[in-house]
Amino acid sequence: MPPTPAKPIRIAVTGAAGNIGYALVFRLASGALFGPEQPLILHLLEIPQALPALSGVAMELTDCAFPLLQDLVPTDQAMQAFDGVDYAFLVGSRPRTQGMERKDLLRVNAEIFKIQGQALNERASRQVRVLVVGNPANTNALIASQNAPDLGENQFSSMMRLDHNRTLSILHEKCRVPVSSIHQVTVWGNHSSTQFPDLEHARIADRPALDQVDSTWYRNTLIATVQQRGAAVIKARGASSAASAASAALDHMRDWIAGTPKEDWVSMGVAANGDYGIEPGIFFGYPVACRNGHHDIVQGLALSEFARSQIALTNRELREERDGIRDLLPPSSRA
Ligand code: NAD
Ligand code: LMR
Repeated sequence: MPPTPAKPIRIAVTGAAGNIGYALVFRLASGALFGPEQPLILHLLEIPQALPALSGVAMELTDCAFPLLQDLVPTDQAMQAFDGVDYAFLVGSRPRTQGMERKDLLRVNAEIFKIQGQALNERASRQVRVLVVGNPANTNALIASQNAPDLGENQFSSMMRLDHNRTLSILHEKCRVPVSSIHQVTVWGNHSSTQFPDLEHARIADRPALDQVDSTWYRNTLIATVQQRGAAVIKARGASSAASAASAALDHMRDWIAGTPKEDWVSMGVAANGDYGIEPGIFFGYPVACRNGHHDIVQGLALSEFARSQIALTNRELREERDGIRDLLPPSSRA
């Protein structure tokens, strides 16, 4: 007997006609996340003004004749976009332009994540996993999760993976080693210029990273380069990172679902719970290990004075961001 075909999974992508959306949906439809046997249905959310562009994206997806793509649900209605979805990529929101910090987008974008959190709460699968990409991603993840009280906070995460990948790639160039030989890198805190790319526990080709790179280069060059990389891309491209962001979003979701390698971890923004002195009420970039579809903060890493001071800075910024959007959190909010 032929094997029973797998049930299609439903994946929502918001801002699907935007730059990241355009880089993401074709890779999803080709099987880049769930492999060549898993059929899927893509739910594509856009604002009404972008529906003509979205219909063009839908035409192109159709024209690819992807064997895995069973259906498309293009819409400007959040309730329809999240109806029954198993995974949601919350991308749709305004990107920053040159000279702005990501937190300057807070009041512009925050309302979107309140409405979408409520719609996810109403309509998504009770097991939905949500990745927030739209900036400022950590605080938007907080807003979405707090507006979805029937879902667990741990079903939401924010994207630190682009920063993580940038750190790997800088080390690859500096040390001339394959990316695959670099492990246990963490980017702590906010996806912003206060983030802390941490090499104190990192290993390169089975040896401590900090035995292989100069500590002045680490503190003065690597950290600042990662913190400012988004701005450098905007300056060069005239638009914010898109293909690399889509790729990082796939990496994030894949590791969450399939798990991280034993003894290694990735950087994910997750709800703070007191670990490493970060009190609840914000989404914070942590070292995270994933097993059986769950993410867990890696425990017991010793932090130097330098690391503590960097983590305190980014923690403070996230709390200020949270204080700026309190009106969007429901009265029952845990934040
Ligand atoms: P873009 O302007 O090219 O596309 C955004 C799309 O979102 C547009 O098509 C717009 O119509 C749509 N949109 C706006 N409001 C919406 C809503 N309420 N519902 C659904 N769709 C909506 O921008 P982009 O380059 O794709 O970037 C999207 C977001 O991702 C920005 O906030 C950007 O700063 C952020 N970003 C985050 C990371 C990260 O690492 N976390 C990396 C890159 C970009
Ligand atoms: C990035 O890191 O590339 C994105 O967050 C876009 C930006 O505004 O820098």
